[in-house]
Amino acid sequence: MPLRKLVAGNWKMHGVSSDLAEIAQIASASREYPQVDVALCVPAILIERAVRAVPGFSIGGQDVHHAEKGAHTGCTSARMLVDAGAVLTIVGHSERRDAQRESNAEIQAKAHAALQSGLNVILCIGESLSVRERGDAVETVLSQLEASIPDEPSEAAELAIAYEPIWAIGSGKTPTIDEIAEMHDAIRNRLNQRYGGEGDRVRILYGGSVKPSNAGEIFAVADVDGALVGGASLKAEDFMPIVAAASRAG
Ligand code: PGA
Repeated sequence: MPLRKLVAGNWKMHGVSSDLAEIAQIASASREYPQVDVALCVPAILIERAVRAVPGFSIGGQDVHHAEKGAHTGCTSARMLVDAGAVLTIVGHSERRDAQRESNAEIQAKAHAALQSGLNVILCIGESLSVRERGDAVETVLSQLEASIPDEPSEAAELAIAYEPIWAIGSGKTPTIDEIAEMHDAIRNRLNQRYGGEGDRVRILYGGSVKPSNAGEIFAVADVDGALVGGASLKAEDFMPIVAAASRAG
């Protein structure tokens, strides 16, 4: 049975009080697509205000620290996210793997901490352009997957994997449909090896330059269970056609 599609927006470092109206518009328009799970991952400082503005709509964080609390200046714990009203968080986004030099082991610890606190997790993996051009994309992404997903299969339903080729993020470029299909199939197989039958419950999202014009064909690919959307999630007029495409794909 196909999994319910999840379309999550990643607002990155965008969003202040005056953008709450846009979040409200997205939340209200999403009610027309009850078959799709829709979420917005906003800057940590905006989470609580967003949650108050759109009760019942899924608001998430973009990162979480693996420790429960302590001397970690500037960081946000899973308990803090939950306290602010978040229901999910992204971990391991390539922008953090790169700029904050996050390792697979650290990302695994973050995912574990978030799941333990009751947050759903979107864990990102993806290859660079040079790796893709060398022909090592699948192998590289699978080894990232192996090293960064949490061990406990009981957490499978709360976990989503976002396959995001680094070179496709914010670039307007996307892999071919065949390349997306090959990667999602490989990820599904590896999840099932690791989690047994539970691997089928993990949603595999595609991310990287998803927009209204390409969402339909991407959602039609087997084992694409939704999308992680950056730039096109900032405005309801761009984001809602992507949600509508997910709803049509069923
Ligand atoms: P993009 O970003 O949709 O702007 O390419 C996706 C992401 O970074 O999650």
